[in-house]
Amino acid sequence: MRALHSAVPTHLNLRLCHSHHLPLKPPFPSLPHPAFHSNSLKLTASFSSGSVSKTSMAASTPSTESETKPFSVLFVCLGNICRSPAAEGVFTDLVKKRGLDSKFKIDSAGTIDYHQGNQADPRMRAASKRRGIEITSLSRPIRLSDFRDFDVILAMDKQNRADILEAFNRWKFREPLPEDAYKKVKLMCSYCKKHDETEVPDPYYGGPQGFEKVLDLLEDACESLLDSILAENKHILDP
Ligand code: 4NP
Repeated sequence: MRALHSAVPTHLNLRLCHSHHLPLKPPFPSLPHPAFHSNSLKLTASFSSGSVSKTSMAASTPSTESETKPFSVLFVCLGNICRSPAAEGVFTDLVKKRGLDSKFKIDSAGTIDYHQGNQADPRMRAASKRRGIEITSLSRPIRLSDFRDFDVILAMDKQNRADILEAFNRWKFREPLPEDAYKKVKLMCSYCKKHDETEVPDPYYGGPQGFEKVLDLLEDACESLLDSILAENKHILDP
């Protein structure tokens, strides 16, 4: 895949990437997600509610353990080289500025493995650096254990969210996963307070202003994401 990426014109890369979506082939047919059933309106609502309570997300974890473990946040986009590593950088920076680094585990992933092991896109790194944010992560695809290991999973756009939920529906038959882990999946822009956008747009094939827009949205969303995590998980602020 990587060799193809450098050898073919850019527009072909888009078709390749978007046609591959998730790296793992389903051992079972995809099932409709429970949230799409008409009698699951409550569950559907949770996708956009911005609720990030750890106890509701990890119901099987004893409260003492869940309160001593760092709160874990995973940002997910398509390639994990533009939006989600930037989100990881912005959120990490914010958490550090508030002196909460030891209370959080922060990571990012892609719904495809096409860029696995690669640094973030140089345009995204440069735009972030101009705002004082270093992006250091290497691309990796989302994996089954992420649904166990993370308290909240932030999708950059609706297609990312659909791909994440599709993966969950496949993987839950492969190994036991918390049945309600899909509730951890939220849309990043559902946390935006200053912007009306519902998705963080993919900047990969656009100009420099696209990378600035991504950062504007991420800075807005990360502020309110952190506030809502802290409001719903008060133990995080315990000394
Ligand atoms: P990202 O952006 O999902 O924000 O990392 C993209 C990166 C790579 C590709 C598309 C989007 N690609 O087609 O290779």
